[in-house]
Amino acid sequence: MTFQDQIKQGIPSELPSKKTYEKAINHAPKRIDVLSKEEKELAIRNALRYFDKKHHPVLAQEFAEELKEYGRIYMYRFRPDYKFYARPIKEYPGNSVQAKAIMHMIQNNLDEAVAQHPHELITYGGNGAVFQNWAQYLLTMKYLSEMNDEQTLIMYSGHPMGLFPSNTNAPRVVVTNGMMIPNYSKQNDWEKYNALGVTQYGQMTAGSYMYIGPQGIVHGTTITVLNAGRKIAKNGEPLAGKLFLTSGLGGMSGAQPKAGNIAGCITVCAEVNPKITEIRLSQGWIDEKITDLNELALRVKRAKENKEVVSIAFLGNIVEVWEKFAEQNVYVDLGSDQTSLHNPWAGGYYPAGISFEESNVMMVENPKLFKEKVKGSLRRQVAAINKHTAKGTYFFDYGNAFLLEASRAGADVMAENGIDFKYSSYVQDIMGPMCFDYGFGPFRWVCTSANPVDLEKTDAIACEVLEEIRKNSPKEIQQQMTDNIQWIKGAQENKLVVGSQARILYADAEGRVKIAEAFNNAIKNGEISAPIVLGRDHHDVSGTDSPYRETSNIYDGSKFTADMAIQNVIGDSFRGATWVSIHNGGGVGWGEVINGGFGMVLDGSLEAKKRLKSMLFWDVNNGIARRNWARNEGADFAIKRAMEVEPNLKVTLPNLVDDSILKDLF
Ligand SMILES: NC(=O)c1ccc[n+]([C@@H]2O[C@H](COP(=O)([O-])OP(=O)(O)OC[C@H]3O[C@@H](n4cnc5c(N)ncnc54)[C@H](O)[C@@H]3O)[C@@H](O)[C@H]2O)c1
Repeated sequence: MTFQDQIKQGIPSELPSKKTYEKAINHAPKRIDVLSKEEKELAIRNALRYFDKKHHPVLAQEFAEELKEYGRIYMYRFRPDYKFYARPIKEYPGNSVQAKAIMHMIQNNLDEAVAQHPHELITYGGNGAVFQNWAQYLLTMKYLSEMNDEQTLIMYSGHPMGLFPSNTNAPRVVVTNGMMIPNYSKQNDWEKYNALGVTQYGQMTAGSYMYIGPQGIVHGTTITVLNAGRKIAKNGEPLAGKLFLTSGLGGMSGAQPKAGNIAGCITVCAEVNPKITEIRLSQGWIDEKITDLNELALRVKRAKENKEVVSIAFLGNIVEVWEKFAEQNVYVDLGSDQTSLHNPWAGGYYPAGISFEESNVMMVENPKLFKEKVKGSLRRQVAAINKHTAKGTYFFDYGNAFLLEASRAGADVMAENGIDFKYSSYVQDIMGPMCFDYGFGPFRWVCTSANPVDLEKTDAIACEVLEEIRKNSPKEIQQQMTDNIQWIKGAQENKLVVGSQARILYADAEGRVKIAEAFNNAIKNGEISAPIVLGRDHHDVSGTDSPYRETSNIYDGSKFTADMAIQNVIGDSFRGATWVSIHNGGGVGWGEVINGGFGMVLDGSLEAKKRLKSMLFWDVNNGIARRNWARNEGADFAIKRAMEVEPNLKVTLPNLVDDSILKDLF
């Protein structure tokens, strides 16, 4: 059967043959057994809803096995045999260009070269799911291949509820992931309701079909490392010869060594998982791998002497590196951590002192002991980090809930006031005040032709647009503009593409609108051969409410609210987004964040031009308005500028209060 026929078929009426569990693939860790007997029966009953009754006897047995073996029902048997990758848009069956573009994005999120656990439909972050099971995937693709532009596909946490009549201006797909009644939003609730098959953790760009491989994060990470370097520079010197120590070579963390190379420093990145380390080596995302701590220390000393720009993977536990470098007096200039501590008990963090394999068993068979090991390891890690920072290391939290979980584990991370952490997060110090408050965020696009030539053209167009804008940019954003232009100029040479022909480029509202408009024109003129999908990471100016990350530099008390993210997705949906998504969880964990995103298909039409102008302007300025109301200086500047450009924008501005007024009030 052709690829197109398989898509159109959806869930096959006859059972495909059983699949063997491919050992070479990086599989999701076993999930803990949380369901009671009755709940397990309910999980099976839920899973069988997708299938004809005649298959129930066979599938009930099989799904019960999967639940026992893996803690979830993935329905492995139904994983299609065709190769998953972002095929040129013309290869997808269907009646709607927009729907075909969405299929292109979904396939990319499940590509074996892109996804972290492709057979479990997990794109990144250990549990960032596109779908909960293969039946949902098959049905969704079928709906997309059937739908027209007067229908909207409704996605409930990976489950396609169905096609509903709408209108041409409505989004083609509306996605919700992990939306829970707030009281049922703890980590264990995810384990339970995900095992029941009624919700999923969509991370950010996994469940919203907007992942573009580690490139998506390389740019943000480069900006972070560069600016962290500027923070520690005594005389404006570059990062050459300085050491950045961190951990994780996974979905996002894998971008760190590449970013370190682009920023021009020595990067040491510890990773416990040998498979992932090999993947990053083979992709050229790290230069060298070392497995022995003494050898590592020597290698780093040599790299420092020679001021090498090099990235080194240490196959082992990050805790041991911090300790070794303290013992051997290896000075760490910049330090961070990108283990997946938003998911601490189920494989996000591997404790020191026990092997990777032992951990994988213990987290399932003895979760209580595993939890203690994780906590102990975090205390050890922080103790070692504190020794380095006492000597001058600049350590920052990378938005992975490191400080939060370390504090919960009783590690020595609290500031003297007992409320704040000793160290800032990268958003508090860098990303928030320097980027988000001015509207700069991870704008991205994907060429659905799948043709690298188109991507090259878009890079050139975007660069030209930014250079034009920079000519009249105010001094407040000159550094940003320069960094972003440099990024896009080096993008081709840095060979960032893994998966779809995609590009990330930090830009503000003006940049995003003008670049998108130029792309739309280029499609209209035939200069670019197929539609372009615009999008962004949820980790942006307006998309995400997350008190310890994206909104950690909001100091008016509102960082624990989620109005901005909800307003954003509603606003995007009626201003022209092709699809919208809103998630509970992502990055820092379930119940800790609400985040949303969009996808927008540009097809060269006048309609697309109207949509992009209206939606992108809102999508950035919503967050700036909120950041301004929180009295953030950069946002005050940016929103006033936006109001000058757009007379229909009228934002409520805060009056600042003198400290003296508050003195002696209570
Ligand atoms: N890169 C960014 O810009 C960014 C931004 C915000 C948040 N984050 C956060 O960073 C974290 C990592 O994201 P990811 O997508 O790379 O997750 P991931 O799960 O794909 O990768 C984390 C990696 O850390 C490794 N690891 C775990 N414990 C370790 C230990 N003790 N020592 C060495 N290696 C260990 C794991 O094996 C895994 O490969 C997440 O919590 C994410 O939300 C990243």
